[in-house]
Amino acid sequence: MAFREESQEFTDGGASRSLSSKVSNSQIPHHVAIVMDGNGRWAKKRGLPRTKGHEAGERVLFEIVEAALHLGIKELSVFAFSTENWRRSPDEVKFLMGFNREVLRRRRDQMNELGVRLRWIGRPQRLWKSVIEELEEAQRVTRKNSKLILNMCINYGGRAEIADAAARIATDVAKRRLKPSQINERSFAKYLEEPKMSDVDLFIRTSGEHRTSNFLIWQSAYAEFVFVDELWPDVTPETLRRAVDIYSKRERRFGKA
Ligand code: IPE
Ligand code: IPE
Ligand code: MG
Repeated sequence: MAFREESQEFTDGGASRSLSSKVSNSQIPHHVAIVMDGNGRWAKKRGLPRTKGHEAGERVLFEIVEAALHLGIKELSVFAFSTENWRRSPDEVKFLMGFNREVLRRRRDQMNELGVRLRWIGRPQRLWKSVIEELEEAQRVTRKNSKLILNMCINYGGRAEIADAAARIATDVAKRRLKPSQINERSFAKYLEEPKMSDVDLFIRTSGEHRTSNFLIWQSAYAEFVFVDELWPDVTPETLRRAVDIYSKRERRFGKA
């Protein structure tokens, strides 16, 4: 898909530079992962409770899904609730559980009409039963779609995912279904939460923080990282297009000389 001409200043990890380019089909990342961060600060700046920031982020997520479809991105993973987010106040955790459930219910049909296949990535432990039910229903309704896979990462943590995979491998070895000599990167990946998930090409984090916060750490081993300053509720499709533009100019070497 052709990318429209643009020429503007953009902050990439603090360094401002001028962009002027066209991105061709081959430079569109297959899998984009986004840490949707900054909702609380967005609300605080406006004298509002943190929950209002989460609410303001809903529209942005679905604008980004549509923009991803237009750009020809095939897989989009979004971090909605981490295994570490249980450390927040009980009130905020309760809000986020109910909010995620309602967003899934509200947006399910729209996602289906757009040809988006929704997949839940995360642990069931501690997660509200009503949230799991809504995730399963959204997966069921959208299961035949193939334009874009939307991985909703809810109660997800990268280390937890790897540790869980190791435990399942140990069980299979103990039951003699697997030999230790058969464990390698390829076979290990089959024990991850979603074995069909492709490697992340472009990893975006909003809000000016420069860390992964435990998001898709196995799958992002060779991702290109783009950090943007916008708080999540201020993000627009233009933010995604700029990140893709930056990505398209990077040289990915994968260890080769
Ligand atoms: C991201 O925004 C949403 C979740 C983690 C659920 P935050 O709630 O982390 O907002 P900040 O980082 O405190 O501004
Ligand atoms: C990461 O953001 C998790 C989500 C966006 C869901 P956090 O705001 O929880 O991460 P830290 O605490 O800044 O590392
Ligand atoms: Mg945050």
